[in-house]
Amino acid sequence: MNTSTLLTLWYKKNMRDLPWRQVKNPYVIWVSEIIMQQTRIAQGLPYFNRFIDKFPTVEHLANASIDDVLLVWQGLGYYSRARNMHQTAQTIVADYKGMFPKTAKQLQKLKGIGEYTAAAISSFCFNEKVPAIDGNVYRIISRIYDVREPVDKAKGKTLIYDLVSQLLPVQNCGDFNQALMDFGAMVCTPRQASCNICPLASQCQAKLKGTVEERPIKSKITKVRQRYFMYLLVTDGKNILIQKRDNNDIWKGLYELPLFELEKSMEVDAFLNLPEVKAGLPPKPMVLLDDFEPASHKLSHQTIHAKFLLFGSASLPKINGYKSILISNFDDYAFPKLIERYLNGRIKKIMKTKIWGSIKSL
Ligand code: ADE
Repeated sequence: MNTSTLLTLWYKKNMRDLPWRQVKNPYVIWVSEIIMQQTRIAQGLPYFNRFIDKFPTVEHLANASIDDVLLVWQGLGYYSRARNMHQTAQTIVADYKGMFPKTAKQLQKLKGIGEYTAAAISSFCFNEKVPAIDGNVYRIISRIYDVREPVDKAKGKTLIYDLVSQLLPVQNCGDFNQALMDFGAMVCTPRQASCNICPLASQCQAKLKGTVEERPIKSKITKVRQRYFMYLLVTDGKNILIQKRDNNDIWKGLYELPLFELEKSMEVDAFLNLPEVKAGLPPKPMVLLDDFEPASHKLSHQTIHAKFLLFGSASLPKINGYKSILISNFDDYAFPKLIERYLNGRIKKIMKTKIWGSIKSL
């Protein structure tokens, strides 16, 4: 049997029961694809369900505030995707009468919809015969044909595109694209592939040559940037100061604590003596109450090393660009996972400490 038929049969027997597989609604498929591109199914599913509950149609999403969208997205990472979705929903409502374009080429004109997402939407919903190529597909195809070209270079990309295109059936190509996704997640996995249960084992070139673990080939080594953040948790026991990140950087649109970014890791004393810190700290009376153990957070191209300093103040200073919020309203704001995780466990403790009386007398 040929490769394409074997994969299709495998999918019919083994496909995962995922909520968006019951529908051919481009809005739902779009949401699922953007969410699932960055997470594993088990982690992404609750986000997908919450997102569709809260914004059941493209109109709901277009009419929502960006803060509400980011709040549902909180913890997923890649926040620019949520911002792009919000903008694109508005474009679809304003310029396309709420109807998604039907071809991958037209879909790609929309912000945040790349080649893969466009192909997924047009093939799943409108049966367009285009390959939806994600990391799974690069891996599977590199193995079946023992591709030696790096898949992050133009030549390798074109080769994979041509090979998958030849496998795409005329009918149900959306199912075929999804078959590759499930096959990559369940059989042809990045490490310890399950070749023992693979229906393609006898024709897989990498299996025959013993190169499964070495495929796909990539040329680039991702350089990871190290960043050092010092966050100030400034509180009077009831309120904290927060700010919205609105520069062109990670976590744009999310809230965070007052922040100093440093060139290198620094002890607290040295940090407090930096002239820019002395000048930038809120006016007294304010006391440093605690410095918590550092936390680090890995993103795809950077690692954030964060320290948190707890400052107590009898009353919160009013500083331009900062907002004072009740600690009990903490959940109403979308914070990066790093801050959310870090503070969630501590914030209740902070409220219970008995220090606030003494601060008032400073
Ligand atoms: N990962 C991304 N999109 C997916 C889909 N449609 N099915 C399964 N896994 C996926």
